[in-house]
Amino acid sequence: MGDSYNLVVDRLNAFAVADFEGHEVERLELLSSARRLVGRLETRQERIFNIDFRNPAEYAALKICLDLGIWHRWTAVGGGEKTVEELAKLATKDCDLNLLRRLLRLLGATYIIEETGEDRYKPTDFSLSIGDESTTIAQGILAMANHWNASSMNLPSFLAKTSYREPLDPKYSNYVDAFPERLSFFDRCLSNQSYQDSFSGYMREWSKYRFSWPDFYDTTSLVAGADLTSGAPLVVDIGGHHGYDILKFLKKHPDVPAGSLVIQDLEAVLADANLDTDKVKLMPHSFFEPQPIYGSRAYFLRGVFHDWAYEPSLQILQNIVPAMKKGYSKLLVCDVVIPPKGASVYQAGMDLNMMALLSACERTEATWRKLINDAGYKINKIWMDPRGYEGVIEAELA
Ligand SMILES: C[S@@+](CC[C@H](N)C(=O)[O-])C[C@H]1O[C@@H](n2cnc3c(N)ncnc32)[C@H](O)[C@@H]1O
Repeated sequence: MGDSYNLVVDRLNAFAVADFEGHEVERLELLSSARRLVGRLETRQERIFNIDFRNPAEYAALKICLDLGIWHRWTAVGGGEKTVEELAKLATKDCDLNLLRRLLRLLGATYIIEETGEDRYKPTDFSLSIGDESTTIAQGILAMANHWNASSMNLPSFLAKTSYREPLDPKYSNYVDAFPERLSFFDRCLSNQSYQDSFSGYMREWSKYRFSWPDFYDTTSLVAGADLTSGAPLVVDIGGHHGYDILKFLKKHPDVPAGSLVIQDLEAVLADANLDTDKVKLMPHSFFEPQPIYGSRAYFLRGVFHDWAYEPSLQILQNIVPAMKKGYSKLLVCDVVIPPKGASVYQAGMDLNMMALLSACERTEATWRKLINDAGYKINKIWMDPRGYEGVIEAELA
Protein backbone atom coordinates (compact mmCIF):
# COMPACT_ATOMS: atom_id res chain seq x y z
CA MET A 1 0.00 0.00 0.00
CA GLY A 2 2.91 2.34 0.73
CA ASP A 3 3.31 6.00 1.67
CA SER A 4 0.38 7.39 -0.29
CA TYR A 5 -1.95 4.97 1.53
CA ASN A 6 -0.64 6.14 4.93
CA LEU A 7 -1.03 9.74 3.81
CA VAL A 8 -4.67 9.20 2.85
CA VAL A 9 -5.43 7.43 6.15
CA ASP A 10 -3.75 10.23 8.14
CA ARG A 11 -5.64 12.88 6.20
CA LEU A 12 -8.98 11.11 6.73
CA ASN A 13 -8.27 10.72 10.46
CA ALA A 14 -7.62 14.46 10.79
CA PHE A 15 -11.03 15.79 9.62
CA ALA A 16 -13.50 17.07 12.23
CA VAL A 17 -16.71 19.13 12.23
CA ALA A 18 -14.83 22.17 13.55
CA ASP A 19 -12.72 22.33 10.35
CA PHE A 20 -15.80 23.16 8.32
CA GLU A 21 -17.05 26.33 9.99
CA GLY A 22 -18.82 28.29 7.22
CA HIS A 23 -18.27 25.41 4.76
CA GLU A 24 -21.40 23.32 5.33
CA VAL A 25 -21.73 22.22 1.71
CA GLU A 26 -18.15 20.89 1.67
CA ARG A 27 -18.71 19.12 5.02
CA LEU A 28 -21.80 17.38 3.62
CA GLU A 29 -19.96 16.47 0.41
CA LEU A 30 -17.15 14.86 2.40
CA LEU A 31 -19.62 13.09 4.70
CA SER A 32 -21.45 11.69 1.70
CA SER A 33 -18.13 10.55 0.15
CA ALA A 34 -17.18 8.94 3.47
CA ARG A 35 -20.52 7.07 3.52
CA ARG A 36 -19.95 5.84 -0.02
CA LEU A 37 -16.40 4.85 0.96
CA VAL A 38 -17.76 2.78 3.87
CA GLY A 39 -20.29 1.23 1.49
CA ARG A 40 -17.47 0.21 -0.88
CA LEU A 41 -15.05 -0.97 1.80
CA GLU A 42 -17.47 -3.01 3.89
CA THR A 43 -17.92 -6.63 3.00
CA ARG A 44 -21.51 -7.83 2.73
CA GLN A 45 -21.08 -9.66 6.04
CA GLU A 46 -19.86 -6.49 7.75
CA ARG A 47 -22.79 -4.61 6.33
CA ILE A 48 -25.38 -7.06 7.64
CA PHE A 49 -23.55 -7.25 10.98
CA ASN A 50 -23.77 -3.47 11.28
CA ILE A 51 -27.44 -3.37 10.35
CA ASP A 52 -28.46 -6.33 12.51
CA PHE A 53 -26.06 -6.27 15.45
CA ARG A 54 -24.04 -3.08 15.76
CA ASN A 55 -26.73 -0.41 15.41
CA PRO A 56 -29.39 -1.97 17.69
CA ALA A 57 -26.81 -2.94 20.34
CA GLU A 58 -25.24 0.52 20.24
CA TYR A 59 -28.65 2.10 20.82
CA ALA A 60 -29.42 -0.33 23.67
CA ALA A 61 -26.11 0.46 25.39
CA LEU A 62 -26.67 4.23 25.00
CA LYS A 63 -30.17 4.01 26.46
CA ILE A 64 -29.13 1.76 29.39
CA CYS A 65 -26.38 4.25 30.32
CA LEU A 66 -29.01 7.00 30.13
CA ASP A 67 -31.33 4.99 32.43
CA LEU A 68 -28.40 4.49 34.82
CA GLY A 69 -27.85 8.26 34.94
CA ILE A 70 -24.26 7.88 33.73
CA TRP A 71 -24.39 10.51 30.98
CA HIS A 72 -25.86 13.18 33.25
CA ARG A 73 -23.54 12.48 36.17
CA TRP A 74 -20.44 12.26 33.95
CA THR A 75 -21.25 15.66 32.41
CA ALA A 76 -22.15 17.13 35.82
CA VAL A 77 -18.73 16.25 37.27
CA GLY A 78 -17.06 18.02 34.33
CA GLY A 79 -16.33 14.98 32.13
CA GLY A 80 -12.74 13.77 32.22
CA GLU A 81 -11.16 10.34 31.87
CA LYS A 82 -12.74 7.71 34.12
CA THR A 83 -12.27 4.03 34.90
CA VAL A 84 -15.19 1.62 34.63
CA GLU A 85 -15.25 1.48 38.47
CA GLU A 86 -15.50 5.28 38.68
CA LEU A 87 -18.32 5.32 36.15
CA ALA A 88 -20.16 2.59 38.08
CA LYS A 89 -19.92 4.81 41.19
CA LEU A 90 -21.38 7.72 39.19
CA ALA A 91 -24.44 5.63 38.22
CA THR A 92 -27.67 6.52 40.03
CA LYS A 93 -28.64 2.82 40.17
CA ASP A 94 -26.68 -0.19 41.37
CA CYS A 95 -25.26 -2.00 38.36
CA ASP A 96 -22.95 -5.02 38.02
CA LEU A 97 -19.47 -3.82 37.19
CA ASN A 98 -18.99 -6.35 34.43
CA LEU A 99 -22.36 -5.45 32.91
CA LEU A 100 -21.24 -1.82 32.66
CA ARG A 101 -17.83 -2.88 31.31
CA ARG A 102 -19.55 -4.72 28.43
CA LEU A 103 -21.79 -1.76 27.58
CA LEU A 104 -18.90 0.72 27.61
CA ARG A 105 -16.73 -1.57 25.51
CA LEU A 106 -19.16 -1.32 22.59
CA LEU A 107 -19.67 2.43 23.06
CA GLY A 108 -15.88 2.86 22.98
CA ALA A 109 -15.64 0.77 19.81
CA THR A 110 -18.31 2.91 18.10
CA TYR A 111 -16.70 6.14 19.35
CA ILE A 112 -19.65 7.30 21.44
CA ILE A 113 -16.93 7.54 24.09
CA GLU A 114 -13.15 7.25 23.66
CA GLU A 115 -11.26 4.25 25.00
CA THR A 116 -8.01 5.55 26.50
CA GLY A 117 -6.65 2.36 28.14
CA GLU A 118 -7.77 -0.88 29.74
CA ASP A 119 -11.13 -0.17 31.40
CA ARG A 120 -10.61 3.58 30.93
CA TYR A 121 -12.69 6.01 28.90
CA LYS A 122 -12.92 9.68 28.02
CA PRO A 123 -16.21 11.31 27.05
CA THR A 124 -16.69 12.75 23.56
CA ASP A 125 -18.47 15.94 22.64
CA PHE A 126 -21.51 13.79 21.80
CA SER A 127 -21.57 11.81 25.06
CA LEU A 128 -21.17 15.03 27.08
CA SER A 129 -24.09 16.57 25.21
CA ILE A 130 -26.37 13.68 26.27
CA GLY A 131 -25.89 14.68 29.89
CA ASP A 132 -26.00 18.41 29.23
CA GLU A 133 -29.42 19.80 30.20
CA SER A 134 -28.96 22.75 27.83
CA THR A 135 -29.38 20.25 24.96
CA THR A 136 -32.24 17.81 24.42
CA ILE A 137 -30.08 15.06 22.92
CA ALA A 138 -31.16 12.74 25.78
CA GLN A 139 -34.79 13.27 24.75
CA GLY A 140 -33.74 12.21 21.25
CA ILE A 141 -32.58 8.89 22.73
CA LEU A 142 -35.91 8.51 24.51
CA ALA A 143 -37.83 9.39 21.33
CA MET A 144 -36.33 6.33 19.68
CA ALA A 145 -37.71 4.12 22.48
CA ASN A 146 -41.04 5.98 22.68
CA HIS A 147 -41.75 6.37 18.95
CA TRP A 148 -39.29 5.71 16.12
CA ASN A 149 -38.06 2.19 16.84
CA ALA A 150 -41.37 0.33 17.13
CA SER A 151 -42.77 2.37 14.27
CA SER A 152 -39.92 1.44 11.87
CA MET A 153 -39.88 -2.19 12.96
CA ASN A 154 -43.62 -2.48 12.34
CA LEU A 155 -43.57 -0.99 8.83
CA PRO A 156 -42.77 -4.20 6.90
CA SER A 157 -45.64 -6.16 8.47
CA PHE A 158 -48.02 -3.19 8.19
CA LEU A 159 -47.29 -2.81 4.47
CA ALA A 160 -47.70 -6.57 3.96
CA LYS A 161 -51.07 -6.37 5.74
CA THR A 162 -52.17 -3.42 3.60
CA SER A 163 -51.05 -5.14 0.36
CA TYR A 164 -48.24 -2.63 -0.23
CA ARG A 165 -50.58 0.34 -0.76
CA GLU A 166 -48.89 3.67 -0.08
CA PRO A 167 -50.09 4.70 3.42
CA LEU A 168 -52.28 7.81 3.09
CA ASP A 169 -54.81 7.44 5.91
CA PRO A 170 -53.72 9.20 9.14
CA LYS A 171 -56.40 7.32 11.11
CA TYR A 172 -55.14 3.90 10.08
CA SER A 173 -51.40 4.48 9.97
CA ASN A 174 -48.47 2.17 10.60
CA TYR A 175 -47.97 4.06 13.91
CA VAL A 176 -51.55 3.31 15.01
CA ASP A 177 -50.88 -0.35 14.17
CA ALA A 178 -47.53 -0.42 15.98
CA PHE A 179 -48.56 0.58 19.51
CA PRO A 180 -51.13 -0.97 21.88
CA GLU A 181 -52.95 2.36 22.45
CA ARG A 182 -53.90 2.44 18.74
CA LEU A 183 -53.60 6.22 18.68
CA SER A 184 -52.23 8.45 15.91
CA PHE A 185 -48.79 9.99 16.51
CA PHE A 186 -50.00 13.40 17.77
CA ASP A 187 -52.83 11.88 19.85
CA ARG A 188 -50.43 9.41 21.48
CA CYS A 189 -48.07 12.31 22.28
CA LEU A 190 -50.97 14.11 23.97
CA SER A 191 -51.85 10.97 25.96
CA ASN A 192 -48.54 10.82 27.84
CA GLN A 193 -46.30 13.74 28.81
CA SER A 194 -43.09 11.71 28.39
CA TYR A 195 -44.07 10.87 24.79
CA GLN A 196 -44.71 14.56 24.11
CA ASP A 197 -41.47 15.62 25.85
CA SER A 198 -39.32 13.22 23.85
CA PHE A 199 -40.96 14.39 20.59
CA SER A 200 -40.50 18.07 21.58
CA GLY A 201 -36.89 17.42 22.64
CA TYR A 202 -36.12 15.73 19.35
CA MET A 203 -37.77 18.66 17.52
CA ARG A 204 -35.66 21.14 19.45
CA GLU A 205 -32.38 19.53 18.37
CA TRP A 206 -33.74 19.16 14.82
CA SER A 207 -34.55 22.86 14.72
CA LYS A 208 -30.96 23.66 15.77
CA TYR A 209 -29.70 21.58 12.84
CA ARG A 210 -32.00 23.04 10.18
CA PHE A 211 -30.99 26.33 8.60
CA SER A 212 -32.56 29.41 10.08
CA TRP A 213 -35.23 30.37 7.53
CA PRO A 214 -34.57 34.16 7.67
CA ASP A 215 -31.01 33.31 6.51
CA PHE A 216 -32.17 31.90 3.17
CA TYR A 217 -35.52 33.64 2.63
CA ASP A 218 -35.81 37.41 2.13
CA THR A 219 -37.63 38.40 5.34
CA THR A 220 -36.37 41.99 4.94
CA SER A 221 -38.69 42.60 1.96
CA LEU A 222 -41.49 40.90 3.86
CA VAL A 223 -41.09 43.34 6.76
CA ALA A 224 -40.57 46.36 4.45
CA GLY A 225 -43.83 45.62 2.63
CA ALA A 226 -45.89 45.10 5.80
CA ASP A 227 -48.70 47.42 6.87
CA LEU A 228 -49.49 46.75 10.52
CA THR A 229 -51.79 49.76 11.06
CA SER A 230 -54.92 47.59 11.06
CA GLY A 231 -53.51 45.50 13.92
CA ALA A 232 -53.10 42.41 11.72
CA PRO A 233 -49.89 40.53 12.53
CA LEU A 234 -46.69 40.25 10.56
CA VAL A 235 -46.21 36.49 10.75
CA VAL A 236 -48.53 33.74 11.95
CA ASP A 237 -46.52 30.54 12.48
CA ILE A 238 -49.10 27.77 12.10
CA GLY A 239 -48.13 24.51 13.84
CA GLY A 240 -45.23 26.55 15.25
CA HIS A 241 -44.62 24.21 18.23
CA HIS A 242 -42.45 26.01 20.84
CA GLY A 243 -41.58 28.91 18.56
CA TYR A 244 -38.03 28.19 17.41
CA ASP A 245 -38.70 29.65 13.94
CA ILE A 246 -40.48 32.74 15.22
CA LEU A 247 -37.57 33.39 17.58
CA LYS A 248 -35.16 33.16 14.64
CA PHE A 249 -37.27 35.73 12.80
CA LEU A 250 -37.30 37.95 15.90
CA LYS A 251 -33.53 37.69 16.19
CA LYS A 252 -33.18 39.15 12.69
CA HIS A 253 -35.96 41.73 13.16
CA PRO A 254 -35.88 42.65 16.87
CA ASP A 255 -37.79 45.93 16.39
CA VAL A 256 -41.11 44.46 15.25
CA PRO A 257 -44.09 45.68 17.34
CA ALA A 258 -45.32 43.77 20.39
CA GLY A 259 -47.82 41.06 19.50
CA SER A 260 -47.03 41.17 15.77
CA LEU A 261 -45.81 37.57 15.73
CA VAL A 262 -48.20 34.71 16.50
CA ILE A 263 -47.62 31.02 17.14
CA GLN A 264 -50.53 28.67 16.66
CA ASP A 265 -50.47 25.04 17.77
CA LEU A 266 -52.43 22.58 19.90
CA GLU A 267 -53.21 23.95 23.36
CA ALA A 268 -51.24 21.27 25.24
CA VAL A 269 -48.19 21.87 23.03
CA LEU A 270 -48.25 25.64 23.57
CA ALA A 271 -48.53 25.08 27.34
CA ASP A 272 -44.88 23.90 27.28
CA ALA A 273 -43.60 26.85 25.19
CA ASN A 274 -41.39 29.16 27.26
CA LEU A 275 -41.16 32.42 25.36
CA ASP A 276 -40.02 35.40 27.31
CA THR A 277 -41.12 38.19 24.97
CA ASP A 278 -44.18 40.39 24.43
CA LYS A 279 -43.51 40.37 20.66
CA VAL A 280 -44.98 36.87 20.32
CA LYS A 281 -48.56 35.81 21.06
CA LEU A 282 -49.50 32.18 21.61
CA MET A 283 -52.84 31.10 20.18
CA PRO A 284 -54.26 27.58 20.52
CA HIS A 285 -55.70 26.71 17.13
CA SER A 286 -56.18 23.55 15.09
CA PHE A 287 -55.17 24.03 11.48
CA PHE A 288 -58.10 21.79 10.52
CA GLU A 289 -60.36 24.73 11.47
CA PRO A 290 -60.67 27.96 9.44
CA GLN A 291 -57.80 30.41 10.11
CA PRO A 292 -59.11 32.97 12.65
CA ILE A 293 -56.50 35.70 11.98
CA TYR A 294 -57.25 37.80 8.90
CA GLY A 295 -54.84 39.77 6.74
CA SER A 296 -51.50 38.73 8.25
CA ARG A 297 -48.51 39.69 6.10
CA ALA A 298 -47.37 36.04 6.18
CA TYR A 299 -48.74 32.63 7.14
CA PHE A 300 -45.72 30.44 7.79
CA LEU A 301 -45.83 26.64 8.10
CA ARG A 302 -42.64 24.67 8.68
CA GLY A 303 -42.50 20.90 8.87
CA VAL A 304 -46.30 20.80 8.94
CA PHE A 305 -47.23 19.34 5.55
CA HIS A 306 -44.68 16.55 5.78
CA ASP A 307 -46.91 15.20 8.57
CA TRP A 308 -49.93 14.89 6.26
CA ALA A 309 -50.83 13.25 2.94
CA TYR A 310 -52.44 15.17 0.07
CA GLU A 311 -56.07 15.38 1.31
CA PRO A 312 -55.44 16.68 4.86
CA SER A 313 -52.70 18.98 3.52
CA LEU A 314 -55.15 20.42 1.00
CA GLN A 315 -57.62 21.04 3.83
CA ILE A 316 -54.98 22.84 5.94
CA LEU A 317 -54.06 25.05 2.97
CA GLN A 318 -57.67 25.81 2.05
CA ASN A 319 -58.43 26.80 5.67
CA ILE A 320 -55.99 29.71 5.26
CA VAL A 321 -57.34 30.97 1.91
CA PRO A 322 -60.24 33.11 3.28
CA ALA A 323 -57.90 34.79 5.79
CA MET A 324 -55.39 35.92 3.14
CA LYS A 325 -55.48 39.49 1.80
CA LYS A 326 -55.07 39.31 -1.98
CA GLY A 327 -51.88 40.93 -3.27
CA TYR A 328 -50.57 41.41 0.27
CA SER A 329 -50.53 38.18 2.33
CA LYS A 330 -47.88 35.58 1.59
CA LEU A 331 -48.09 31.87 2.24
CA LEU A 332 -44.66 30.59 3.30
CA VAL A 333 -44.27 26.81 3.31
CA CYS A 334 -40.93 25.66 4.67
CA ASP A 335 -40.25 21.96 4.18
CA VAL A 336 -38.06 19.40 2.47
CA VAL A 337 -38.00 19.63 -1.34
CA ILE A 338 -36.77 16.29 -2.70
CA PRO A 339 -34.72 16.64 -5.90
CA PRO A 340 -35.80 14.43 -8.83
CA LYS A 341 -32.44 12.61 -8.59
CA GLY A 342 -29.77 12.30 -5.91
CA ALA A 343 -31.92 12.77 -2.80
CA SER A 344 -29.83 12.97 0.36
CA VAL A 345 -30.10 10.39 3.15
CA TYR A 346 -31.69 13.18 5.19
CA GLN A 347 -34.49 13.77 2.66
CA ALA A 348 -35.14 10.12 1.76
CA GLY A 349 -34.86 9.01 5.40
CA MET A 350 -37.23 11.71 6.59
CA ASP A 351 -39.69 10.66 3.88
CA LEU A 352 -39.85 7.01 5.01
CA ASN A 353 -40.09 8.03 8.66
CA MET A 354 -43.05 10.28 7.81
CA MET A 355 -44.62 7.28 6.07
CA ALA A 356 -44.06 5.07 9.12
CA LEU A 357 -45.20 7.65 11.69
CA LEU A 358 -48.00 9.54 10.00
CA SER A 359 -49.02 8.03 6.61
CA ALA A 360 -47.35 11.15 5.22
CA CYS A 361 -44.45 12.10 2.98
CA GLU A 362 -41.79 14.56 1.90
CA ARG A 363 -42.42 16.14 -1.51
CA THR A 364 -40.69 16.92 -4.78
CA GLU A 365 -41.07 20.34 -6.37
CA ALA A 366 -43.67 18.90 -8.75
CA THR A 367 -45.84 17.49 -5.91
CA TRP A 368 -45.51 20.77 -3.98
CA ARG A 369 -46.66 22.72 -7.05
CA LYS A 370 -49.68 20.46 -7.51
CA LEU A 371 -50.73 20.62 -3.85
CA ILE A 372 -50.30 24.39 -3.47
CA ASN A 373 -51.91 25.22 -6.82
CA ASP A 374 -54.84 22.86 -6.14
CA ALA A 375 -55.52 24.77 -2.90
CA GLY A 376 -55.92 28.07 -4.79
CA TYR A 377 -52.47 29.65 -4.57
CA LYS A 378 -49.81 30.57 -7.12
CA ILE A 379 -46.15 29.98 -6.29
CA ASN A 380 -43.86 33.04 -6.60
CA LYS A 381 -40.50 31.46 -5.83
CA ILE A 382 -38.78 28.60 -4.00
CA TRP A 383 -35.82 29.63 -1.85
CA MET A 384 -33.59 26.63 -1.03
CA ASP A 385 -31.40 26.40 2.05
CA PRO A 386 -27.62 26.18 1.37
CA ARG A 387 -27.66 22.41 1.97
CA GLY A 388 -30.35 21.96 -0.68
CA TYR A 389 -32.48 20.02 1.83
CA GLU A 390 -35.36 22.38 2.60
CA GLY A 391 -36.97 25.27 0.78
CA VAL A 392 -39.23 28.17 1.62
CA ILE A 393 -41.99 28.09 -0.96
CA GLU A 394 -43.47 31.57 -1.26
CA ALA A 395 -47.01 31.69 -2.65
CA GLU A 396 -49.99 34.01 -2.69
CA LEU A 397 -53.63 33.84 -3.66
CA ALA A 398 -54.00 32.91 -7.35
C1 LIG B 1 -43.29 18.38 12.81
S1 LIG B 1 -43.92 19.55 13.91
C2 LIG B 1 -43.30 21.08 13.24
C3 LIG B 1 -43.18 22.14 14.27
C4 LIG B 1 -42.50 23.44 13.82
N1 LIG B 1 -43.23 24.12 12.79
C5 LIG B 1 -41.08 23.16 13.36
O1 LIG B 1 -40.83 23.01 12.18
O2 LIG B 1 -40.21 23.09 14.24
C6 LIG B 1 -45.63 19.64 13.56
C7 LIG B 1 -46.41 20.53 14.50
O3 LIG B 1 -47.79 20.46 14.16
C8 LIG B 1 -48.53 20.51 15.37
N2 LIG B 1 -49.89 20.03 15.13
C9 LIG B 1 -50.31 18.74 14.95
N3 LIG B 1 -51.63 18.73 14.73
C10 LIG B 1 -52.06 20.01 14.76
C11 LIG B 1 -53.32 20.64 14.56
N4 LIG B 1 -54.42 19.93 14.30
N5 LIG B 1 -53.38 21.98 14.63
C12 LIG B 1 -52.26 22.74 14.90
N6 LIG B 1 -51.04 22.19 15.09
C13 LIG B 1 -50.95 20.84 15.02
C14 LIG B 1 -47.71 19.67 16.31
O4 LIG B 1 -48.05 19.88 17.66
C15 LIG B 1 -46.31 20.12 15.96
O5 LIG B 1 -45.93 21.22 16.73
